[in-house]
Amino acid sequence: MTITSRKIGRFLSGLLAFGIVAYVAACLALSAMNPDRMHRRTTHAATMPAPEGLPEGFLLGTATAAYQVEGGNTDNDWSVFEQQPGHIAQGDRSGRASDEWNRVPQDIGLMKDLGANAYRFSVEWSRVEPQEGAWDESAWTHYEDEVRELRAAGITPMVTLLHFTLPEWLAARGGVRAQDFPPLFAKFAAEAGRRLGPQVHLWCTLNEPNVQMTLGYLDGRWPPGENSPPHAAEAFTGLLRAHAAAAAELHRVVPGAQVGVAVNMIVADPASRWNLLDWASSYMVRKAFDWSIYDAIVSGRARLSVPGIPSLDQPIAGLKDSADFVGVNYYTRFLFHFSTGFPPSFARTSDPENTTDLAWSIYPDGLQRVLQDTWTRYHLPIYVTENGIADAAGTRRGAYIQSHLEAVEAAAREGIPVRGYFYWSLVDNFEWAEGFRTRFGLYHVNYPTEERTLAPGAEVFRSWAATLAGPASR
Ligand code: GCO
Repeated sequence: MTITSRKIGRFLSGLLAFGIVAYVAACLALSAMNPDRMHRRTTHAATMPAPEGLPEGFLLGTATAAYQVEGGNTDNDWSVFEQQPGHIAQGDRSGRASDEWNRVPQDIGLMKDLGANAYRFSVEWSRVEPQEGAWDESAWTHYEDEVRELRAAGITPMVTLLHFTLPEWLAARGGVRAQDFPPLFAKFAAEAGRRLGPQVHLWCTLNEPNVQMTLGYLDGRWPPGENSPPHAAEAFTGLLRAHAAAAAELHRVVPGAQVGVAVNMIVADPASRWNLLDWASSYMVRKAFDWSIYDAIVSGRARLSVPGIPSLDQPIAGLKDSADFVGVNYYTRFLFHFSTGFPPSFARTSDPENTTDLAWSIYPDGLQRVLQDTWTRYHLPIYVTENGIADAAGTRRGAYIQSHLEAVEAAAREGIPVRGYFYWSLVDNFEWAEGFRTRFGLYHVNYPTEERTLAPGAEVFRSWAATLAGPASR
C-alpha cells in the first residue's frame, strides 16, 4: 500500500516536472517564433542614413479616403451616422473636411513637393451613383481628371473602391449584408474600370473589411452601429463576395489590372510571454482579424471560427486567387491577455513615451514582422497601403516615418516583394469617430481656411523620396 502511494507520488511529481518543462519549452518556442524585437529606435532625431534597399520602381506615396478629405459628401451611411449625437468625438461633422474636392491640383502640387511618386485615394460611390442605377457624369469627370492630372505629374494612382462609406440607398436596405450588394458593387467596379482603367492599374476593391465588420457589427462604434455577431458573420461573407465580384470585373475590364484588398494588420502579441492562454488569445486575434480575409482569398472559402460569432466555412464563387497583391495597413501592435469573454480583452503597451496621440504604441519592428508573416503565408507581392501617425505636436512623425521605412527596407533586403509604401495621410483629415482632433497629415490643415502647411517630420518622407531609383512602376 505504502509502496503504491510512493509510486503514485513519484509518478505525479514526474508528470508535474514534465508539465512544467513542456510549458516553459512551449513558451520559449513561441517566443522564438514571434520575437519581441525592439530594434528600431523611434525617438532618434531625424538624421538618417540614406536608404539602401528600396527596390527599383518602388512606389512611395501618400494615402487618403474620399469621405475623410473631399468634403461635401452627404449621401452615404456615414453622413447619416455622423448627424446622430454621440457618434463623433467633440460632435464634429465631416462637412468640408480637407476640401480636397476643390483642391486636387493644389494637392497634387503638394505631392510633387514631397517627391512622392504614388497616391492612393478612393472613389466615393455615393457621389458617382447618388441614386441606384444613375451615374453622375460630373462626379466621374472629376475622378477622370484627377487620374489624368496625377499621371501628368508622374504620380502612379492606386484607387480604392470601398473605403467604408456606402451609398445611403444601399445602406437603407442592409448595406454589406444586402443580398444584391456584391452585384451592385461589381457594377460600380466595372464602371470605374472602364472610366479610370486606362490610367489606373492598381486597385483596392475594399479597405479594411476586417475593421468595417468589427466596428460596424461587433462593437457598434461605426455604421450601422450594431452589436450582432450573426450580422458580423454575414457582413464578412458579403464583403468577400463583393470583393470577388469586383475583382473579376476589374480583371475583365482593365488590361493588366493588379487587384488587392487593404487589410488592417496589427501585431497581436501576448501580454505575458509566460502565459500560454495569452499566446492562444493573441493567435486567435491574428487569425480572425489579420488573416481571415486573405486566408479566404487564397483558399476560396470564407472561414470564421471565433468564440461568440457563428462559425463559418463556405465556398465563395470566384474568390479563390482573386487578388494579385496584399495591401497591408499597419499602425501598431496590441498586447492580448486571456479573458473568458469575447472579444478577448487587450492591454496596450504601457510606455506612455512611445505612443501616438491615439495611444497606439509605436512599434516599427512590427511592420517587418507583418511583412514577413504576410509573405510567408500568401506568397503575393505586398504594398504597405497605409502607415502613419497621429501626432498633432509633430514631435514623433519624423522618427516614425524613418523607423517604419527602415523596416520596409529591411524586408525588401530579405527578398520580400514589397512594392510600395503609402503614408497615411497626405493632409490632416476627418478621422471617423475621432473627428478632426487627430492629425495624421504630412501637411497640417488649418480647417477654417483650409490652408496647408508642411507638418514637422514630413521632411523625412521627402528625403526618402529623394533617393528613389528608377521610374515608378505601373
Ligand atoms: C482606417 C483607415 C483610415 C484611417 C487611418 C488612421 O484604418 O480606418 O483606412 O481611414 O483614417 O487608418 O486611423
